Amino acid sequence: MLKFKGSLNIPGDKSVSHRALILSAMAIGKTKITNLLESDDVMRTLKILTQLGVKIIREKDYWIVYGNGTNGFLDPEKYLDCGNSGTTARLIMGAVSSNPITCNFIGDNSLSKRSMSRVTDHLENMGAVIHITKNDYLPIVISGSDKLLPIKHEIQKASAQIKSALILAALNIHGKTKVIEKTATRDHTERLLRFLNIDFKIKRLKNNSNQIELNGPYEINSKNIQVAGDPSSASFFIVGALIVPKSKIILKNVMLNPSRIEFLKILKKMGGKIKVKKTNKTCGEEIGNITAEYSKLKGINIPSSKSAYLIDEYPIISIAASQARGRTSMNGLNELRHKESDRIKSIVHNLKKLHIKFHLKNDDLVIFGTNLKIKKEIKIKTFNDHRIAMAFSILNILCDQKLKIDNKKCINISYPDFEKHLQNLLQNY
Ligand code: S3P
Repeated sequence: MLKFKGSLNIPGDKSVSHRALILSAMAIGKTKITNLLESDDVMRTLKILTQLGVKIIREKDYWIVYGNGTNGFLDPEKYLDCGNSGTTARLIMGAVSSNPITCNFIGDNSLSKRSMSRVTDHLENMGAVIHITKNDYLPIVISGSDKLLPIKHEIQKASAQIKSALILAALNIHGKTKVIEKTATRDHTERLLRFLNIDFKIKRLKNNSNQIELNGPYEINSKNIQVAGDPSSASFFIVGALIVPKSKIILKNVMLNPSRIEFLKILKKMGGKIKVKKTNKTCGEEIGNITAEYSKLKGINIPSSKSAYLIDEYPIISIAASQARGRTSMNGLNELRHKESDRIKSIVHNLKKLHIKFHLKNDDLVIFGTNLKIKKEIKIKTFNDHRIAMAFSILNILCDQKLKIDNKKCINISYPDFEKHLQNLLQNY
């Protein structure tokens, strides 16, 4: 039998890595970025920035970005291929829209089925010219302008990507842009802007919405950035340690941004023995070490009000729920349908194959803790979705490796070292 044991340094955060690259490209001068996540998604952002005229080079174990300013992007010669990365597509669309250049965005099959109008509608309202051939989807051509209008945007969906795209556009817009989000989402863009000494306001409105007010155009002075470890990557091993008997692990260098570690509260509420120790602060983000050990989990209700802060962790929370006593209900999962795969469909497809009991009604999912009796090999369908592949790789430890994950390569999207780190943390007993 295998158990999780030992300690591990968690690689750089995906969201912060995208933003570190884009904001240092929009700063003036040289930025050294350490602990950048070198995953497929982040490398898409990096390559596109070079196509937009930004010099980026790797030196030893860090990256140097030579920023050209918030108005410094050049017309790319070729299309900008965002691959599988929604963050790349949406954030870069925002950043280029307030520059007088034309960009042709494309993506892979999965990304070409994900909504882009959630961003481009806002850009169009400010005066960017958008050409979409297939109503909501890539390929999309954006002709930007340095004369976009400073307006007020009310974002209806809970999405940090929409918010960040509009903030990045506003950095080169003359006048006051207001970005209002009804539901709070991850705030890495705002934290990095503060770290870079950008003068802007955040206000909580009476109806509990957040208003971000920028008064551009801005000149950003470059400042070195260190990327903290990705809590979403850590979540897989944390759940692994909670569900596999005799396990105990320590994960180091994990970012503790409150908009990202709601899953720790959820797992603790389920009875998970988890300890968090703050150690440091870097570039506006707190960092710490997380200890997790085997625990007898119980089912709980997870209300829809928490869904924006748990959005990337539902696949692995589902695995925890399948090993908890009783029922775990997860409500308000609609945004999960718009990820790298329709994650509700991907999760229940595989639960069914494993005879794990669940009940799905619209966007509310209930999972019942189930004793696994896996006698022969079972094929897990990842739908080419990295988080589905990692979540079921963790459950596989309890299944004597009888699950055959159909595509492990997609894990490179966010965590190229996942398999190596998983093996490092596993021990026989
Ligand atoms: C991200 C925001 C979230 C998240 C994604 C990364 C970001 O997407 O699911 O993995 O870096 O801003 P949405 O903004 O679409 O919710």
